[in-house]
Amino acid sequence: MWRVLTVLLLATLVLSGCQGHDSLNVLDPSGSAGQKQLDLIKWSFFLMCGVFAVVITIFIYVLIRFRKRKGIDVMPEQTHGSNTLEIIWTVIPIILLAVLAVPTVTYTFDLADMPREEDSIKVKVTGYQYWWEFQYEGMNIKTAQELHIPVGKKVHLEIHGKDVLHSFWVPALGGKTDVIPGRVNTMWLDAKKPGVYQGKCAELCGAGHALMDFKVIAEEQADFDKWVAQMQKPAVAQTASQKEGEKIFMQNCLGCHAGTNPRIIGPDLNKFGTRTTIAGILPHDEQNLKKWLKDPTSVKPGTLMPKIDYLEPKEMDALVDYLMNRK
Ligand code: CUA
Repeated sequence: MWRVLTVLLLATLVLSGCQGHDSLNVLDPSGSAGQKQLDLIKWSFFLMCGVFAVVITIFIYVLIRFRKRKGIDVMPEQTHGSNTLEIIWTVIPIILLAVLAVPTVTYTFDLADMPREEDSIKVKVTGYQYWWEFQYEGMNIKTAQELHIPVGKKVHLEIHGKDVLHSFWVPALGGKTDVIPGRVNTMWLDAKKPGVYQGKCAELCGAGHALMDFKVIAEEQADFDKWVAQMQKPAVAQTASQKEGEKIFMQNCLGCHAGTNPRIIGPDLNKFGTRTTIAGILPHDEQNLKKWLKDPTSVKPGTLMPKIDYLEPKEMDALVDYLMNRK
């Protein structure tokens, strides 16, 4: 008895750890794709609850009605081979599956229907080990880890993979869609209210899989337009220290982080100063940027980012100053 209780108590503790990040909750969607998916979950859940209730009621009734009692020793009527019963319990599941299939098929087609160009924006998403790249079609914007979208507008996502299998998932808005190298998958999502929605890679893709996070930042149209305008403006190093940092960046980082290199293996850092995270997971401040630069694998196991631990402290300060101010 105590063992069972201990296990249950521990399970409560462990499982309550699953909650916490509100925006990771599929049961509280903030977008119409997520809402449709929740409708389907509810539909099948309550249907199954009905089946469960009927089966359990019959089960309990039979247990009580035909239990062995003192002095009474009757064998209930045997129904083996009854055609009527066989037909009934074959037809009922067929009806249940049909009832489930109608909304499932309808929603599957709804979600596969890509929005019309005039009422949507189109973003090319690329999954890399272990980060996400976002390219806005027709806007000349390329960024990473943070997908800005306007509230109420459908976002048409064209999903590419560069190395291994990943899966693009924003629990509160909808998903998941497989990221497969050599294949282009599409999906759409929208957000009904402004907010920051956590995104996750939902396919085991290597040592850094659990940390392959990103954010969807939904803003009112005016704020989104402001963000677009800012992203389109070139970032220019202002102070002497930032200019020094720029030189160090050119010499040490550009090989992987050049926005124009088609064989790019690191994210575009053009507007790095506007981001809210370092490597998609750490809070965006100088201390964390230094930590990431000096020992990236201690932050994200398996990352391709090499250690930048050979710079003089002054050089490191200049590089960090430059990156944090690329806005
Ligand atoms: Cu990418 Cu898991």
